[in-house]
Amino acid sequence: MKLVETKDSSFTAYNAKYDEHYHTISGAVEEAFEKHVNALGISDEMAILDFCFGLGYNAIAATKDHENLKIIGLENDIEIIKLMQKVEIPNILTEEYDVFRDLAETNVISDNQNNEIKLILGDALKNIEALPDNYFERVFFDPFSPKKQPEMWSEELLKKIYSKMKNGGKLSTYSCARMVRDNLKAAGFVVMDGPVIGRRSPATIAVKE
Ligand SMILES: C[S@@+](CC[C@H](N)C(=O)[O-])C[C@H]1O[C@@H](n2cnc3c(N)ncnc32)[C@H](O)[C@@H]1O
Repeated sequence: MKLVETKDSSFTAYNAKYDEHYHTISGAVEEAFEKHVNALGISDEMAILDFCFGLGYNAIAATKDHENLKIIGLENDIEIIKLMQKVEIPNILTEEYDVFRDLAETNVISDNQNNEIKLILGDALKNIEALPDNYFERVFFDPFSPKKQPEMWSEELLKKIYSKMKNGGKLSTYSCARMVRDNLKAAGFVVMDGPVIGRRSPATIAVKE
């Protein structure tokens, strides 16, 4: 797995199988804050699902200046979790990130603000089933692209995620592809534009009203 520096001087990884980076190369940590954490408005005590955890940037960015978050991360590749132990992180997130670097060794870690990240390793398509219904207030939805991983953007999966979210819950994703938005709507979400970061098209926010 190759690490690649992005334009905000944070690193992303490159995945040869999917021929994709894990984040936008315009700025990996910026993307975590702007397209996910700030776009969704995280507040203390929330239950958050990080669907496709990767290097954990979205989940760990959420812990900054927050407390009592309950975060569940779904990820099937232990190699990317092991990379957390050595990836260099910009100052804005170093302190928070250092707490959670050992998720490859121990799958639940809490910080001093009582934010907890629990990592569930395995196929997210299967592991989503066992999560509680009507539980999550926020979902960071971050698979590889719909072109490379269409099974991760299906109406069926999005319906499943919808059932795991509380009313008023919000989901963020970088894609605004027609197929993605149509499937989100068919799953029951109200869909709106997210921020425009690192490309011309907006991200997507989906709300369970
Ligand atoms: C675009 S990257 C996510 C980046 C991540 N959010 C971050 O901040 O580093 C997509 C991630 O989905 C994971 N993935 C792909 N298919 C999966 C599956 N079926 N179950 C769980 N994780 C999967 C990949 O291993 C990869 O880590």
